[in-house]
Amino acid sequence: MDINNIRIAVIGLGYVGLPLMVEFAKKYPTLGFDINSERISQLRDGIDSMKDLSKKDLKEAVHGSFSVDPADLKDYNVYIITVPTPVDKNNRPDLTALKNTCQLVGKVLSKNDIVIYESTVFPGATEEVCIPILEEFSGFKLNESFYVGYSPERINPGDKKHRLSSVIKSLQAPIKKPPVLLTPFTNLSSPQEPILPVVLKWQRLQKSLKTHSGI
Ligand SMILES: NC(=O)c1ccc[n+]([C@@H]2O[C@H](COP(=O)([O-])OP(=O)(O)OC[C@H]3O[C@@H](n4cnc5c(N)ncnc54)[C@H](O)[C@@H]3O)[C@@H](O)[C@H]2O)c1
Repeated sequence: MDINNIRIAVIGLGYVGLPLMVEFAKKYPTLGFDINSERISQLRDGIDSMKDLSKKDLKEAVHGSFSVDPADLKDYNVYIITVPTPVDKNNRPDLTALKNTCQLVGKVLSKNDIVIYESTVFPGATEEVCIPILEEFSGFKLNESFYVGYSPERINPGDKKHRLSSVIKSLQAPIKKPPVLLTPFTNLSSPQEPILPVVLKWQRLQKSLKTHSGI
């Protein structure tokens, strides 16, 4: 994938997804997608009902747009999934939103696209639940026609000091060699500083692959 042709769709615009979408949209064409049409229409008016981001913050998303229409996802090549993963009344993970999103993305996936999961899931979920759905609905094979990463969100709502752009993140992927895109994840506004600080130390990544994410 050409770093100059990154088009990002962030799916699920809650506490995690919205700040992420806005950060990317300062630099890259970025779509914020949500199934909640009221949320989308408020965001288009510059209103974050969760009061996490101000009107001024939202204005900084100069390359961003919002949509509730799944057809709009087709134009993007990096999909970041930040939908809720609650537990049910028996404390079992409810992966309904995650599975629905996998279907949605599977249907619009093109060759060489990248899907990154940020939702919190149990070890093994990416490989055992998400990837098979992506493969089924796209007809593609992982690491032949598309790539998957897992980067658990570490945002701490209300913490004004440790913000999205300054907290170190880790990224794991079930591949031996990163696609070109994954290495130059540097600061979007100032290339000297790490932003969405994806720590992609390949050896550490390989080591943590099995233990941390289960993929
Ligand atoms: N909030 C946090 O501090 C935090 C921290 C770390 C990890 N996480 C994890 O990140 C994930 C998202 O959490 P959150 O707090 O942002 O959730 P949230 O409830 O604030 O927002 C989720 C958004 O996703 C949308 N959504 C639901 N189903 C969807 C679907 N099928 N397609 C598209 N959009 C859909 C909802 O309308 C909502 O706007 C969860 O897995 C959570 O465990 C959250």
